[in-house]
Amino acid sequence: MAKLAPSILSADFSKLAEQVALIEEGGAHIVHVDVMDGHFVPNISFGAVVMKSIAGKTTLPFDVHLMIEHPEKYIPDFVCENTAYITIHSETCKDDRKEVLKQIRDLGYKAGLAVNPETPLSEIEGDLEDIDMALVMSVHPGFGGQSFIEECLDKVVQLKKLREEKGYSYEIEIDGGINLDNVSKVKEAGCDIIVAGSAVFGAEDIPQRTRAFCEKLV
Ligand code: DX5
Ligand code: ZN
Repeated sequence: MAKLAPSILSADFSKLAEQVALIEEGGAHIVHVDVMDGHFVPNISFGAVVMKSIAGKTTLPFDVHLMIEHPEKYIPDFVCENTAYITIHSETCKDDRKEVLKQIRDLGYKAGLAVNPETPLSEIEGDLEDIDMALVMSVHPGFGGQSFIEECLDKVVQLKKLREEKGYSYEIEIDGGINLDNVSKVKEAGCDIIVAGSAVFGAEDIPQRTRAFCEKLV
């Protein structure tokens, strides 16, 4: 079974804790936290203060997606009682990637490594033994509500094959443009964690929409 990680980027921030309670009620497994700095991506979302405002208000683990330059400076800020995964982008850490991944693991969290649609898997092949999660971006990061880039599924298939062949243990996550129409195909390709933002929080009945997603992930 795959896990659903709704992205709070598309939530109503004026009542964030209640919005998270609605996805929890619907059976979501993880809260996806999209952090954008306006440098690595052309948009600013929110930082650790906003994330921490919902810490302890849900039992769901947080999956922190850092779309920021110099993540090593900010990783400690994203530690809270719900933090479970912290993911950095391969494109922001070229020379010090192994150290930054180790920094996350040394803090006691699962280390994720993300690849943008234009970044080939060969770029992170040498890091696959040092990560707990590989995040395949299926849109260009920066905004919610974009269309799914189909070709990115090839990376999911390849990551699954590599994991089997080499005995790696990372989970495979996909992020961007997932909706009720394409979620089954995405799951079949081999994703373990599926992020959905606008398709969950844009619904009139958020618990019901969450349940509809979860039913397709079994
Ligand atoms: C994109 C973010 C995604 C995004 C997903 O930069 O990393 O997590 O919020 O939103 P949807 O599901 O609307 O594409
Ligand atoms: Zn994300």
